[in-house]
Amino acid sequence: MKKRFRFGNPLETDAVQEKPPLREGEIPFLTQEGKELHYALSPSDIVYGLGENVRGINKRGWIYVSDCSDDPNHTEEKHSLYGAHNFILVSGREQFGVFVDTPGKVTFDIGYTSYSSLRISVEEGEYELYVIEGGSPDEIVSEFRGLIGRSYIPPKWAFGYGQCRWSYLTADEVREVAKGYRENGIPLDMIYLDIDYMERYKDFTIDRGSFPDFEELVQEMKAQGIRLIPIIDGGVKAEEGYDVYEEGMEKGFFCKDEDGREFVVGVWPGKCCLPDMLNEEAGRWFGDKYKFLTDKGIEGFWNDMNEPAIFYSEKRLRDVFEKIEDYRQQENLDINSFFAFKGMVAGLSNHPEDYKSFYHKYRGQRVRHDRVHNLFGYYMTRSAGEALERLSPDRRMLLFSRASYIGMHRYGGIWMGDNQSWWSHILMNLKMLPSLNMCGFLYTGADLGGFGSDATEDLLLRWLALGIFTPLMRNHSAMGTRRQEAYAFEEKESFRGLIRLRYRLLPYLYSEFMKAALGNTMYARPLGFVWGGDEIARHVEDQLMIGESIMIAPVYEQNAIGRTVYLPEEMKMVKFAGEAVCEEKILSKGHHFVEVGLKEAVVFVRKGRLLPLAAAGKNVEDTDWGKLELVHFGVPGDSYELYEDDGFSREMCLEGHVREINL
Ligand code: GLC
Repeated sequence: MKKRFRFGNPLETDAVQEKPPLREGEIPFLTQEGKELHYALSPSDIVYGLGENVRGINKRGWIYVSDCSDDPNHTEEKHSLYGAHNFILVSGREQFGVFVDTPGKVTFDIGYTSYSSLRISVEEGEYELYVIEGGSPDEIVSEFRGLIGRSYIPPKWAFGYGQCRWSYLTADEVREVAKGYRENGIPLDMIYLDIDYMERYKDFTIDRGSFPDFEELVQEMKAQGIRLIPIIDGGVKAEEGYDVYEEGMEKGFFCKDEDGREFVVGVWPGKCCLPDMLNEEAGRWFGDKYKFLTDKGIEGFWNDMNEPAIFYSEKRLRDVFEKIEDYRQQENLDINSFFAFKGMVAGLSNHPEDYKSFYHKYRGQRVRHDRVHNLFGYYMTRSAGEALERLSPDRRMLLFSRASYIGMHRYGGIWMGDNQSWWSHILMNLKMLPSLNMCGFLYTGADLGGFGSDATEDLLLRWLALGIFTPLMRNHSAMGTRRQEAYAFEEKESFRGLIRLRYRLLPYLYSEFMKAALGNTMYARPLGFVWGGDEIARHVEDQLMIGESIMIAPVYEQNAIGRTVYLPEEMKMVKFAGEAVCEEKILSKGHHFVEVGLKEAVVFVRKGRLLPLAAAGKNVEDTDWGKLELVHFGVPGDSYELYEDDGFSREMCLEGHVREINL
């Protein structure tokens, strides 16, 4: 049962596709206290949701603010990351879902101010509120997902493994990466191109100095079964003679300041203008620009810096320079002036005042940016997704974004942004998966091995042992960090084994993904969704169900030889040494210490369930689903529904594509 309420006159977000009729009067479960919504949490209540955020699967005990932020330090004290995902699910004494639909800031105080109190406040005070009552967590999620529409589905090859790094500076370096994988027999489907393929970081250009034969490179890689996936940034370099800039200026498609002049910000290329992604015409224009690369054979993109990230605004930078002059006059900076000085320079980026200093043309209205801040990345990706559908009506394209809002899940996936090569970030990766799934984001994953800081061999191996289950499986690292391609470390065989295991799992992972996308269900579920009556299972924060058959429990501590796993019921532990099963053992309900070596991965198969495995190839296309090996904890007659399609058509449904396989 879904109920919709409206407060004030909120701006449309297009998050919800099927709007139930508006109601007035009492809101179920929640009470209004001034501008806040309030719910009294009971001790056993779990609050799920909020998509991309730090901390637990259970969000209790912290304040989260939906405010798309370019913040590369994903530490526990943060309140916002790149996405704004205003859906929560309360499960305990009562079970219900809440979606706060508004394009501005929303604060979820989930037992922070008072442990037993959930408080939601909307900065603008204008929003639509959806309350979903009744049913199990799975049912509430499905109802919600029904409202917001079908999740984005990438082409099948995008379920392969991808390698990225900021940056592969030349075409030959890209060739080297492909060679590194090929020579070590490690499968690969994608090499991602970061900003250096562009001419001085200008969107829709190619640096012909370092990528002279870009078109040939695309084809050469394709011949090896590898697709190149370039990045597109949210800001357009402000430079005379650059066609995208000049056209945008001429058509008035960039965001304007209060006086109607283009608002200039600094990002990678230096001074940039921000395309008004929210203006339908401007969005369409920007989306059409992707043709520059699809014409060259490109079939996928990642959209970045679209919170939008602002290193500095032209105006703020000018002010800071002036103030620096003042500081220069004071020969001796005392403690207060020193910290004020430092803070002034450090605070240049993503300044809240800057987000209040430019305007969009949104649905015919002039709207100040901060009121619609959380829609920028969404509309950039939507414009791209819609354009890619025009450009390629028959074949799916790969598309994912950094910033997002619910609604964007229909047009693309997201990656989890600039994490670090930290052990704690393996766990954060795991926790975000189900939270994102609830909000519609199914095609997602983290930078495996960590983006910032130096990765170690053991960290990457452990991270891959989780990454083989995430729909988006990409290894990415920042400039200046240690190289972390799968062939960069000594134990090449271990990397080969784990990545090949990913390819063996494809029939299962793809089937479960497609069933989740087409049926509005979860791909990665917290244990509490399945074993709601088991208090221990409900509070497990480091294990997940992936699809219907298997539970995963990755190791995320350095130098651990294994870990304790909780089994909510009798299950079969299946251990893989690389791609091959090396041990199977039935384990009873309860806690078990399970040894897991660095080259191993473990899954726990539920009773009566099957896990079909393919024969791994050098990429997705080369992986053979013909003769499936069936790992199982079942008896003859048990079955599994395999989803099969051509992997690229845009027309998709479950009917006619699900084939039952039996033990
Ligand atoms: C941002 C992205 C990161 C990328 C870098 C350079 O930090 O999040 O993935 O490598 O920009 O483009």
